[in-house]
Amino acid sequence: MRTYQLIAPAKINLYLEIIGDRLDGYHELVMILQSIELSDRLEIRSNGTQDINLHCNHPLVPVDQTNIAYRAAQLMLEQFPQAFANYGGVDITINKQIPVAAGLAGGSTDGAAVLVGLNLLWELGLTIPQLQRLGEKLGSDVPFCVSGGTAIATGRGEKLDPIQDLDNLWLVLAKYNNLSVSTPWAYKTYKQQFGESYINDTTGIQSRTSQLHSGPFVQAISHKEGQKIGNLLHNDLEKVVLPEYPQVAQLKEILQQAGGLGTMMSGSGPTVFTLCQSQTEAETIKKIARKKIEDPNLEFWVTKLSSNGISIMDEQ
Ligand code: C5P
Repeated sequence: MRTYQLIAPAKINLYLEIIGDRLDGYHELVMILQSIELSDRLEIRSNGTQDINLHCNHPLVPVDQTNIAYRAAQLMLEQFPQAFANYGGVDITINKQIPVAAGLAGGSTDGAAVLVGLNLLWELGLTIPQLQRLGEKLGSDVPFCVSGGTAIATGRGEKLDPIQDLDNLWLVLAKYNNLSVSTPWAYKTYKQQFGESYINDTTGIQSRTSQLHSGPFVQAISHKEGQKIGNLLHNDLEKVVLPEYPQVAQLKEILQQAGGLGTMMSGSGPTVFTLCQSQTEAETIKKIARKKIEDPNLEFWVTKLSSNGISIMDEQ
């Protein structure tokens, strides 16, 4: 039986603006999404049975239908019954390196890897856009995780427009391992507090999207101007998450004071990151922050921006 080993990178939001709400219950967003080198590893192999078996080395990761990776396999089984009949079920093993419930799309990237892996294992020949359309059914971040790199994302986050790759910067990520933020709570609270300023007409939404396209952030990315990028980082969800989680607000402040190009919360949090020019700068900031907050639950990762989505590490 063939086996694929895949690399599934995490993502951060360099920019997250909430424009309005949608009839499907989601929010209309304008974002800049960025892959990072911090990645999970997945092994996907046919098992010759009728079952999907999911294994994960992390005790807090569920291995049933509540895991996007499991749902991705179910979706492929439903969509391609002939391939399922030919090849049978799959064993999926996730080696989790991305922090869980962190605002880094850890679950979404595993789901994206299962779509890519089954496409290869079952020799379906699906294109990246076809895999991304399947990914939309699983979660707003899954289509981006398939292709990765640097992209403007609009709609729910599933409409992607790749821009110049930004892979020259480093970052330090920090997260309390005993803290997690519910994404639905963050969006619901944002709507309660800021819903009155939502734009809901198509022209207004399109104009915000084109402003971002032609604005200084995208220009700074295309010129790889680290300091400008650092100054322009933005995340609307900080407005609701930071007041509710003072530990995260304090972490952001300490990282900010420690240096780097700019500091921000990723997605709905609670991970905070600082962009840096070099690995040395990221390691120094990590050391300073660790000294200032002596909490054993606070974890750090030093990693780099990446231009990769799901990629094959090995094929047997
Ligand atoms: O799509 P995903 O499952 O990742 O979204 C998680 C939750 O985040 C949704 O159930 C919704 O509450 C919120 N969300 C939203 N608008 C988006 C993306 C996510 O309201 N564009």
